[in-house]
Amino acid sequence: DPSRILVVGSLNADLVVRTERFPKAGETLHGSELSIIPGGKGANQAVAAGRLGARVSMVGAVGADSNGELLLDSLVAAGVDLEHVDRLESVATGTAVITVDAAGENTIIVSAGANGKLGQDDVAGAFDSLSDVGVLCLCLEVGIDTVLAAARRAHSAGAQVLCNLSPYGPVPDELLQLTDVLLLNEHEAAHLAGVSSASGDWDAVAASLRAKGIDRAVITMGAAGAVVIDGASAIETVPSPRVTAVDTTGCGDAFMGSLALRLAEGASLAEAAAFAATVGSYAATGYGAQASYPDRKQLAEFVAG
Ligand code: RIB
Ligand code: NA
Repeated sequence: DPSRILVVGSLNADLVVRTERFPKAGETLHGSELSIIPGGKGANQAVAAGRLGARVSMVGAVGADSNGELLLDSLVAAGVDLEHVDRLESVATGTAVITVDAAGENTIIVSAGANGKLGQDDVAGAFDSLSDVGVLCLCLEVGIDTVLAAARRAHSAGAQVLCNLSPYGPVPDELLQLTDVLLLNEHEAAHLAGVSSASGDWDAVAASLRAKGIDRAVITMGAAGAVVIDGASAIETVPSPRVTAVDTTGCGDAFMGSLALRLAEGASLAEAAAFAATVGSYAATGYGAQASYPDRKQLAEFVAG
C-alpha cells in the first residue's frame, strides 16, 4: 500500500478577478466578476493528491467563517482527512487576492489569517496520532517554526520531506538540510543558487544547491516542463504536455501534490516528476486552483488526447 501523505500548510479563500492585462502602479482597470474559490498552497497540494486517490491528511487552520466552510468542503470532496484542521473563532480564514490576465498568468497577494496561527503543537498532535506518514508536503504560507517542527518530526520518522519554497524568502539552513526534495520555480531556483538565470546552466544550479545540503530538487518551468536534480544521477528535463493555458494559478501545487502521490507509491523522482508535469498541465486548462485539478478518469482522458 502507498504510504500516507501529510500536508502541513495553508488554506486560503482565493478572491479572483480576471483582467485583460495587469494594472500598473496607480492604475485602475475593470475586471471580471469576483470569484471566491478554494485555494492556499497547502490545501491545493492536498486536494491534488486526494482527488487522484492518495491517502492524505491535512494539518492547517481556518476561521469559523464561510470561507473556512468553502475550504473544508473542497478537502472533504477530495477525500482528504481533516482531523487536524483547526477551526479558530477569533481570526479570519486566510485569503489570497489574485488577478489573472488574458494569458493565464497571475499575481497573488496572500493575507495569512488563520494560517498564521498554526503552531508547533498542531504539528506534534498530528504526528503523534498518525503513524504511517511516508511523505510530508510543506510550503511557506504558514510560520517557519511550524514548518521546521514538521520537517524535524517527518525526518526522524523516516518520511520524505518535500518543501516548496513559496512565497520565496530566506529560510533557516536547517530546513534545507531536512528537506529530501526541494520544489522551486525557475526564478526561485536562480535566486537560491545565486545565478542570474537558472535555465542557462543547470550544472551550476545543482552544484550550488548541493553546497546548501540539497541533493534532490525539482525545478518547474511551466510549459517548458521541469528539471529534475537527483543526487549523483544526471540532470533530467521532463516535458509538460502542450496545452492552451487559461489560468496557471495553483499549477505548481497540483504538480507538488501529484509528485507526492507518486513518491508515496515508491516511484523515482524522475518518474514522479513526469506524472506531476502532466497533472500541472491539466490544471492550467481550467479556471481556479483546486477547481481545475483532475481525478483519475479526467487525467486518463487528457493523456489519451
Ligand atoms: O499557489 C497558488 C495559491 O497561492 C493560491 O491558491 C493562493 O491561495 C496562494 O496561496
Ligand atoms: Na487552473
